[in-house]
Amino acid sequence: MPQNRPTTMATIINSSTKHRSWEPFISSLILCSHMFILINPATSLDTITPTMPIDDGQTIISTNSNFELGFFSPINSPNRYLGIWYKKISPGTLVWVANRDRPIPNKNNATLKINSDGKLVVVAKQKQSFFWASKNSSKSVNTDQNLIAQLLDSGNFVLRFSNNDDPDEYLWQSFDYPTDTLLPGMKIGWDLKTGLNRALCSWRAIDDPSMGNYSYAVDIHGVPQLGIWKAGQFSYRAGSWNGLRFTGSPQLNENPVFEYTFVYNQNEAYYTTWARNNSVVTRFVLNNSGIARRLTWNDRNKEWVVYSSSPRDQCDSFGLCGAHGICSTDSSPMCRCLEGFVPKAVSDWNAMDWSNGCVRRSKMRCGEGEGFRLYPSVKLPDTRNSWVSLTMGMKECEEMCLRNCSCSGHASANARDGSGCLLWFGDLIDMRRLVDNGQDLYIKMPASELVRHSHRKKRLILIVAGVLVLSAMVLMCLVLYICKKRRQKKEEKKGETPRSGRTYAIEEDSKEELELPLFGFDVISNATDNFSEANKLGEGGFGPVFKGKLGEGKEIAVKRLSRNTAQKLSEFESEAELIAKLQHRNLVKLLGYCIERDERMLVYEFMSNKSLDLFIFDQARGLQLDWQKRVQIIVGIARGLLYLHQDSRLRIVHRDLKASNILLDDEMKPKISDFGLARCFGGDEIEANTTTVVGTYGYMSPEYTTDGLFSIKSDVFSFGVLVLEIITGKKNRGFYYQDCHLNLLGHVWRLWTGGSPLELIDESIVLNSSSPSEVLRCMHVGLLCVQHSAEDRPSMSSVVVMLSNETTNFPSPQHPGFFTERVMYETESSGNQEYCTAIDMTMTLLESR
Ligand SMILES: *[C@@H]1O[C@H](CO)[C@@H](O)[C@H](O)[C@H]1NC(C)=O
Ligand SMILES: *[C@@H]1O[C@H](CO)[C@@H](O)[C@H](O)[C@H]1NC(C)=O
Ligand SMILES: *[C@@H]1O[C@H](CO)[C@@H](O)[C@H](O)[C@H]1NC(C)=O
Repeated sequence: MPQNRPTTMATIINSSTKHRSWEPFISSLILCSHMFILINPATSLDTITPTMPIDDGQTIISTNSNFELGFFSPINSPNRYLGIWYKKISPGTLVWVANRDRPIPNKNNATLKINSDGKLVVVAKQKQSFFWASKNSSKSVNTDQNLIAQLLDSGNFVLRFSNNDDPDEYLWQSFDYPTDTLLPGMKIGWDLKTGLNRALCSWRAIDDPSMGNYSYAVDIHGVPQLGIWKAGQFSYRAGSWNGLRFTGSPQLNENPVFEYTFVYNQNEAYYTTWARNNSVVTRFVLNNSGIARRLTWNDRNKEWVVYSSSPRDQCDSFGLCGAHGICSTDSSPMCRCLEGFVPKAVSDWNAMDWSNGCVRRSKMRCGEGEGFRLYPSVKLPDTRNSWVSLTMGMKECEEMCLRNCSCSGHASANARDGSGCLLWFGDLIDMRRLVDNGQDLYIKMPASELVRHSHRKKRLILIVAGVLVLSAMVLMCLVLYICKKRRQKKEEKKGETPRSGRTYAIEEDSKEELELPLFGFDVISNATDNFSEANKLGEGGFGPVFKGKLGEGKEIAVKRLSRNTAQKLSEFESEAELIAKLQHRNLVKLLGYCIERDERMLVYEFMSNKSLDLFIFDQARGLQLDWQKRVQIIVGIARGLLYLHQDSRLRIVHRDLKASNILLDDEMKPKISDFGLARCFGGDEIEANTTTVVGTYGYMSPEYTTDGLFSIKSDVFSFGVLVLEIITGKKNRGFYYQDCHLNLLGHVWRLWTGGSPLELIDESIVLNSSSPSEVLRCMHVGLLCVQHSAEDRPSMSSVVVMLSNETTNFPSPQHPGFFTERVMYETESSGNQEYCTAIDMTMTLLESR
């Protein structure tokens, strides 16, 4: 009997009273890891046998001491449970609980044993009460054979014949009955032959491991999908598998921590992950508020670090925009109807209750020349009512959808090569725009909608060449005529209304103003395919930006200012003229503008590499920016800003400098864009007061956020934030590191003063021998720029000098503005997100680099 087994006592310490002074740190650990603290002499056995059960107070430990199994009490609870927890690292962090719904009321009263039916059971020692039993095996058990239960180093607790350790022959394994934690090697999903459905289910509360409200599971209605469920409905849908990832998990990418796949065939439908390198310890946990996070163990700091978290933002809440609505975090409101659709209940929709969704504007009758409208880069809709073929091609897929009247759209089933066919029937639910890793979705539209919108080109092809030439000529005449009219009008107006209230004078003669081309509305409308969703590049503060192609093939970016922009026509004209005057190789060039009907648009040169944020905050794309390129970008931005602040004849404060406003050309040269917020000053006016604070949280200087004061030094602050972001690859906003109180600035500051500033360099940056000093110099300049007091910050001219100077003999930085700040996150995040969560974190904070 068990007398000769080494005894281990699990000592439970109430850490919330004992470690009050570290509370934020400890509680963040507790939130993500049901933990208890134990003091434990080592034991060596990893098995139990029919003759060697274990009692409460004893444990078994896997061969390499990765995991330990035994009885425990959660913090603040007297109940006893059988569970598995980490042993070597993070001791006491639970990964599995057996009797989660039937706690053992008293300590030292239970035994885990293999009973005479060949099952693992937890029973009371005295009375014959029973708390847990392993499920029946599908394999027949001849109890004459020798059974053992073994705790493996993977964290799997298995029941098997002592002479057979083939995983396929296990009689029972804890990996088939997960609690709230997915360990490498576990599967989530279905064994379709036996009907076994492996799912994570959250704890009810931190001190209560019984089944909580949320589960993480694979749904096999229609095309299989993974997601988080609450009360029988998705709360978050990761989506269907497209060969590379789940369509709604753009963050699931090749990474240094784990590999993953989804298996779907007649026998099985499951998602599984495994560690790339066993020295990186990782687990995936669903917590009791329905947040699933992947954590990795940082052995240097002895803590779990969040690797990724889902749902990531509000657009991830299932079906937020209702049927045929599409969510986008950078548009406001977040929900839009698909093109050709209108809100079903307009007043609810306008009141931001989008749940009723949208309906078709014009009825679609079957077989009357329907076609498709493409939505690029989206999360594909709910596939519970869909059909999939992995072999069919795109053309066949389209035809099949056209033939079937209830088909509402199609997409490719394999994002790797665009093959396969996924068809939807009925309503399309839970779509969102994705910046990265989205897929093309084709939505079936009646012929009338297609003609109304985008397929003028097709019609034109059918018209004979003569008509084509003729209409082109007519169009040209018309445009010329309109242009002429406009100019006349403009000149007239200029004569009448003196531009009062303007703080700068434009001395140029009107000839120079005429150099900025005025585009006709039709020209721009044609160039952008009638402002189609497909051509939308993004949405800025003042309105959406579209990609367009002019007749001669020149690509342009059109900023369409919102109609309700409270900007007067004259102001708009002066803005356009002002921008046109600003010419520098690090500023985006304005090609022209358009004022027609109530539209105001600015036409810019198109930047093929889009914006900086897409690179620096993305691990994969970050690799394209080596350190030399990053320095080039930093210096380029500094030069552009210096030009705005000093060298141009007008003093311009940008006011919204941020990574997404830095565009990159073919050669990755930076160009500052979006002067929508720029105001110009008279020569000696350096500070102004504003009643409405505009700008982007995370980049705004303290004096601007709190007092509405802005000056060129506010831009310097934003520049400093940008520099630190470029170096670290982390966003100032939404940055998460070990301690909720620190943002990126605070963290860089701490490492800087603590003497280890190089620790935070973006891991995609490859350094050569000379670069560390350069990195330090840039970081130094960045920190000087984000100093709390505006007077302490250098001007851009000093910044440019410092950046190009080999000597690092410049002042030491004072501590940054918003060293610790919470208010920023609070204001920025909407509704149910908490400001210290790492909602948009897809980055790695691994120390095992
Ligand atoms: C679940 O995790 C999220 C993200 O870390 C956290 O904000 C939330 O408080 C957690 N919920 C509970 C009940 O611990
Ligand atoms: C695993 O990680 C360790 C420590 O980081 C490293 O030494 C080893 O080479 C890695 N093994 C593989 C197969 O990558
Ligand atoms: C359309 O597809 C649905 C779902 O696969 C199917 O039930 C229905 O029979 C199809 N209708 C036609 C006319 O093919």
